[in-house]
Amino acid sequence: PYRTYAELRDTDPICKTLFPDGQYGWMITKYEDAVEVLKDLRFIKDFSKLIGGKMEHESIFTHNMLFSDPPDHKRLRGLVQQAFTPRMVTGMRERIQEITDELLSKVSNNNKINLIDDFAFPLPIIVICEILGVPTEDRDKFRLWTTSLIEGSNGEHAEDIAIHMQEFTEYLGERFAKVRLNPGEDLISQLIVAEDEGEKLTEKELYGVVSLLIIAGHETTVNLIGNTILSLLEHPKQLKLLQDNPELIRTAIEESLRYNGPVEFSTSRWARESFEFKGKSINKGDLVIIALNSANHDPYQFKDPEVFDITREKSPHLAFGKGIHLCLGAPLARLEGEIAISSLLERFPNIKLAIDREELEWRPGMIVRGVKEIPLSF
Ligand code: HEM
Repeated sequence: PYRTYAELRDTDPICKTLFPDGQYGWMITKYEDAVEVLKDLRFIKDFSKLIGGKMEHESIFTHNMLFSDPPDHKRLRGLVQQAFTPRMVTGMRERIQEITDELLSKVSNNNKINLIDDFAFPLPIIVICEILGVPTEDRDKFRLWTTSLIEGSNGEHAEDIAIHMQEFTEYLGERFAKVRLNPGEDLISQLIVAEDEGEKLTEKELYGVVSLLIIAGHETTVNLIGNTILSLLEHPKQLKLLQDNPELIRTAIEESLRYNGPVEFSTSRWARESFEFKGKSINKGDLVIIALNSANHDPYQFKDPEVFDITREKSPHLAFGKGIHLCLGAPLARLEGEIAISSLLERFPNIKLAIDREELEWRPGMIVRGVKEIPLSF
């Protein structure tokens, strides 16, 4: 999409677009405009406010911080943010390394690896399951349910999505019932205590927050790991540079997030009122989508944006968004990405793509940018 984004930034940076799900909306492609929209609270998240509080299609996923505005947003984010602070996340380093080593040991005997299935998917889902206190054996069910939601984002497979969301809701209901009988130290237990204590969290919000953490906690990180390996293999000098200087892993992950970010354009808002925005007449209720990957390739913000440079310093990319909805899991995603890529390259220094690049199959839908599978040989 990067060529199209470049054309749009030059010709029509705030453009009226028909999205694959059949909705019209504004697409924001320049960095400067993206930052303004993300910080401007006239662009809201909770669509129900525009239609008198009633949503036609509610889902398990509707009531959480990502789809709320102040003051609900602060309350919902506040209930879980303690678990994801940089300090808490640093404390998980050893466990994440352990899970990584276990997963890599399992594939060490073969001379190939399916990067997504064998490694990039299980790592973040095991981590988020452990934080939430959900059995990690159930991870394939989450994969089915979240893939259905994410890849069906172009309006297709509505029936399958409804069935999967029903199964996901029932699963969580059973889980919550178990935790209520026997609460532990995990995050779901803490949320249930908050719900029982009174006004802090409604039943619908409990489902919304937990399902958001399961979905956001792995869907994007899978693609961070996959996209980083693809970018490194596409740029062998950068790969060699990283292998010779493993301490560059931090800036390498930041550059991967900028160059090929896992979130395509799911970052959406609705106009709370009608107003002029940079010469465009935005109407109340208009959908506005921020193309983060386009903003991250804007030459007014990034020197040589099409160059993949793992030594790039001070890169204020928007891969995690900005403003009040800035990704809550960013410290965790960064740490998982750093450990995953460093460990993989250390154990298998001569990895190669086992198929032609053209054979890679990109995931459908508008939400994530990533490929379905990356077969590697070593
Ligand atoms: C929000 C990206 C990993 C939890 C967001 C947003 C972006 C994003 C762009 C803002 C959306 C918007 O403004 O509309 C990413 C990327 C990740 C990642 C690129 C991995 C590379 C994670 C992880 C977790 C997580 C691991 C959980 C543990 C959340 C939550 C929000 C969020 C809860 C909503 C925050 C709010 O509304 O206040 N993420 N995310 N994310 N992310 Fe992430």
